[in-house]
Amino acid sequence: MSVAVVTGASTGIGAATAARLSREPGAELVLVARREELLRELAESLPCRASYVAVDLTDEAAPERIRAHVEAEHDGRLDLLVNNAGASWRGDFGSAGYANVQRHMELNFDAVVRLTEALLPLLRSSAPSAIVNVASTAGRVARARTGAYSASKFALVGWTDSLYAEELPHGVHVGMVLPGFIATEGFPATELREKALTRWLVSNPEVVAEAIYEVGPGGKPERYVPRFYALAAVARVVAPRFIRRVLTGGAAANLTTSTAGDVAPR
Ligand SMILES: NC(=O)c1ccc[n+]([C@@H]2O[C@H](COP(=O)([O-])OP(=O)(O)OC[C@H]3O[C@@H](n4cnc5c(N)ncnc54)[C@H](OP(=O)(O)O)[C@@H]3O)[C@@H](O)[C@H]2O)c1
Repeated sequence: MSVAVVTGASTGIGAATAARLSREPGAELVLVARREELLRELAESLPCRASYVAVDLTDEAAPERIRAHVEAEHDGRLDLLVNNAGASWRGDFGSAGYANVQRHMELNFDAVVRLTEALLPLLRSSAPSAIVNVASTAGRVARARTGAYSASKFALVGWTDSLYAEELPHGVHVGMVLPGFIATEGFPATELREKALTRWLVSNPEVVAEAIYEVGPGGKPERYVPRFYALAAVARVVAPRFIRRVLTGGAAANLTTSTAGDVAPR
């Protein structure tokens, strides 16, 4: 038996992760997101026991609601926490300001930290167990108009590295995935998928779900998805002038794709 909480499970990478985990023998899933109808449909379609908590993760009471659900439905057992829910609203700092930084931090960082705090006692008492934080290649390399998103993911990357070292003695493995462009509802990457020249940059949620499995139950510390995105992170460290030139050059605008948050603020 293996109990997993997956946040952001209503669509995209989270839904693909739930499907991937559901194939493991004895899997029991708790799906978390705001849209109850989508969670119910997914839970009913999975080949394993699955329940859901429909909640806004930025709500004050969200972590305790999820913890109470795991205690009631699974006797407090928790083998895996996948912190995947997240979003991006593009905008340059001069126009979008602190308010945009704040809303990114609230969802992509603070909500992750608060949920992890609430569930850590369950993860420790269920050890060996695992946490997977879904960061981003944008947590290593920042582009124009994504500063607020990158700030939240840089914070998540730093915090995750520290938590990895702290939780090792407690038997809670802390892994991280850093996706590149993945076509999902929230991050459709339409601009890149429309052009033959850039289509190869975009991957699919199932590939990330497999990586989440590798860094969670599989025990790896981190994975870029697809793997070649690691080159961007390495280049940022060893060739920063080159990366700055690329990210301020003519082609750079193509790399800041529109998100669902831009089209219909959520
Ligand atoms: N796709 C990419 O290119 C890419 C690249 C790097 C990193 N990532 C990261 O991957 C993660 C998943 O993104 P995705 O691409 O799968 O996007 P997605 O399809 O938009 O999924 C985002 C998920 O988060 C949930 N969510 C959003 N706000 C929430 C809130 N306030 N409370 C609870 N749940 C909330 C959404 O469900 P509801 O709307 O139902 O709440 C949805 O299930 C994010 O952390 C994202 O930053 C994505």
